[in-house]
Order: sequence, then structure tokens, then C-alpha cells
Amino acid sequence: MDSLFIRGGVKLEGEVSVSGSKNACLPMFAAALLTPEKCVIKNVPNLSDVRSMAEIIRSLGARCENIEEGTWEIEAREISCTAPYELVRKMRASICVLGPLVARLRKAKVSLPGGCVIGARPVDLHIKGMKCLGCSVEIESGYICVDARKIRGAQIYLGGRFGSTVTGTSNVLMAATLAPGSTIIENAACEPEISDLCKMLVGMGAKIEGIGSPTLCVTGVASLGGTAHSVIPDRIEAGTWIAAALATRGKVLVRGALKKHLGSFLDILERAECPFETRGSSSIYVDASGASYRPVEAVTLPYPGFPTDLQAQVCALMTQAKGISIVTERIYPERFMHVPELARMGAEISREGSSAIISGGRKLSGTHVMASDLRASAALVIAALAAKGETLIQRIYHLDRGYDSMDKKLAALGAKVERRKSSE
Ligand code: EPU
Repeated sequence: MDSLFIRGGVKLEGEVSVSGSKNACLPMFAAALLTPEKCVIKNVPNLSDVRSMAEIIRSLGARCENIEEGTWEIEAREISCTAPYELVRKMRASICVLGPLVARLRKAKVSLPGGCVIGARPVDLHIKGMKCLGCSVEIESGYICVDARKIRGAQIYLGGRFGSTVTGTSNVLMAATLAPGSTIIENAACEPEISDLCKMLVGMGAKIEGIGSPTLCVTGVASLGGTAHSVIPDRIEAGTWIAAALATRGKVLVRGALKKHLGSFLDILERAECPFETRGSSSIYVDASGASYRPVEAVTLPYPGFPTDLQAQVCALMTQAKGISIVTERIYPERFMHVPELARMGAEISREGSSAIISGGRKLSGTHVMASDLRASAALVIAALAAKGETLIQRIYHLDRGYDSMDKKLAALGAKVERRKSSE
């Protein structure tokens, strides 16, 4: 297990390019199962989660190859219906194969994903969606078993107590593309990753209206064909680089930071008086030399609200704002593993229910910390960059799941960073 060594206190300077979106491309790999024809997916980030998804797609019988850097080819001529626990447990996003299998084979057996460190992550809404489409669903020996011989379009309200569901929307949407009749998904997730998936599906011949809105209308078609699709840039990676540049008082041009996908995050930065400007439609420039920040209140919400996947990074940034910030989680109320680790670095931060209370302005100092999940790890990187002294972040395989070449991109921005093998 590798660790990341960071000598803090160095301002990040230069340019960084955001890779393709992890959460957009993972369901796209699953979407390729909807057709026996070839699908080409471009701008795919180099991540262990992508390789895990590829493994699942192959285990179902499809050809899935990384033909050149960032480009994957998937051809699912003949596929089987079972996604086993050994593969699904590695990555929750593998649940996205459920919808395509249901649509194409009219049956599916997909392992329940199991526990997750960021809190309870049920799949009841995915199951509800399948049942509304006329499928019969049983949970047997840890597997979701779907008989979809009677699948047909329906009107489905897909919201739960935490709002819409991103992968649940992907699943129901993909199942509906090949279901006879019309399906209306109400309270569909509006995340840009869903819109990007819709665009790929339309490229495959699907009939979808209302893309980008909470009401998706799908008219089922008899079959779908191959397509080539390029994945949108990763808005969470973009936000992470912006937060890192600000925390180090650096000067960084973030290429592939789409303002239209980052509205709520940029609003928080404006309220914190963070100096940044948009350059065209797809870059954001931070010049934070000598900047000081104001504390903020921020609440995570489904898109277009402030994304839970940037909550930990904003907590890390707010350790640099003098005064009390309150960051509240409304999607995953338990997603605060970064709080005790940031406290070990000298941050005055505590948890009250589903909020982190940060009394910012104290200088952070480097130490050994433990990465617990992807975004908590990103928060620790940001804190380590801003801290005095040396930090060793252990278990960075979490970062490798979701950030393409983060150590290399950091080094190119001047950070003193080194990947170390655990034995060192
Ligand atoms: N929920 C239910 N029932 C369900 C499904 C979800 O109650 O059947 C609840 C969840 O417990 C949560 C809320 O609804 O409280 C939203 O969960 P959602 O289903 O939207 O999450 P997800 O689809 O499992 C995706 C991302 C996550 C991101 C969330 C929220 C992918 C592959 N994953 O997960 O990304 O945090 O949406 O935006 O798209 C990450 O990248 O670090 C990550 C965890």
C-alpha cells in the first residue's frame, strides 16, 4: 500500500488539466452492455475504479480494452447476467450494470454492494425503480435477482429521504431505454454525469427527453447500437485543484474546470472571498498570493447544490479562513472521516451531528495521517500542502481510485511530493 509524502508550505504554481469524470464514465462502461455493437469511450481517466469496472464488464462476457491512452473500446456481443460479489464489493458503482442487464437480457443477478465507509448506502430506490418497470425483484443470498420478462414503461418517482439518487437514476434510465412504452422518471438526479450518460445513450439510439432536468422521459426502443462518446471533465477533480491552489495561496490555472458544473462550489468560494476568475467556459484561474479568507456556512445537496464529493475538500480549505465555518452534510450525514485526521494536523475542527464546525486560522502542521476514503484523502492532501512540515498520508490507494496521476500533477505544480511504498 503506497503512501504519499508531502512537504507542505509550498505555493502551487502553474497549470493543471482536469481528467475525464470518474462518475460519468463508470456508468458509461455499463451502458455499453446495452448493445452488441462496439462502443468507444474517450477521455476516460486512468483510475483503479475504471480498471475495476472493466473487470466487471469482462466478467460478464464483453470485450473491454484500453486501446490507447484515455480511450476504451467495449463490445458486448454475448453477455451473461451475473455480477458476482467478489467484483461488485470492490466498487459500489458496479451496481450500474443492473439496469443494462435488465434491459438487454430481461434478467439480472447482481450482488448487493455491501458496506461503505462514508455511511449507509442502500439500493432500495434502484430496486423500487425496477419493480415500477414491471420487473419482479427478489433478494437471494446477497444478490439482487431480477426477472424482467414483463418489463414495460411506467411513471416512477425516484426520490428518497436524501433526495435523488445518481446511480439509481442511471440504472432505471438504462433499463427504460429498451422497455416497451414510455417511462417518466420524476425526481431524477440532475448531476452533469447523468446528462453525459443520457448523451451517450442518445448516441446509441435511445429516445430521452428532459435531459438535465429532474423529469426524464424515455421512450423505449427495440434495440440500441454502438457509439463513440467523450466523457466530460471531472468537476470534483477541478474543485479539488481549485481548493488546493487556494489553500497554498498559489497561482494556478485549472484547465477543464467548467463553470457551468461548479456553480454552487464557486458561490461558496465567492462568499469566502477567495480570489479566482473564470477564463473562457472551461478554465478557472486562482491567484491567491497573500489572500485571506472569510469563514462560510455550506450545506451539501443534490446537484445543482453543493456536492458532497467536495465537502471534505471545503472543510480542509476552511481551516485557512479565520473564524468559524460550518459545513453540513445532507447527502451522507456520516461522511466526516477527515475530521479527526485534520484535527491531528492541528485544525480546530469538530463534528456536531451532520456538521463539521471549523474554527479556522490556526497553522496546520504535518504528521502521519490515514486516508479513509477518496474525498477524505483529497482533503488530507490539501491540508498537507498548506501545513508546515512533513505529512505522510497512508493508504493512498483511495486517491488512485478517483484522481488520475494526482502525485504527478502535484509535482508539476511545484509541490514537494513523493509516492512511497509502504515498506519505506
Ligand atoms: N439513497 C437511498 N436509496 C438508494 C440510493 C441512494 O436512500 O437506493 C441515498 C443515499 O444513501 C444517499 C443519497 O440517496 O444519502 C444519494 O445517494 P446516490 O444514490 O445519489 O449516490 P450514489 O449514486 O451511490 C454517486 C457517486 C458518489 C457521490 C453520490 C452523491 C458515482 C459512481 N458515485 O453515488 O461519488 O457521492 O452520487 O452525489 O456516481 C465519490 O466519487 O467519491 C462518490 C462517493
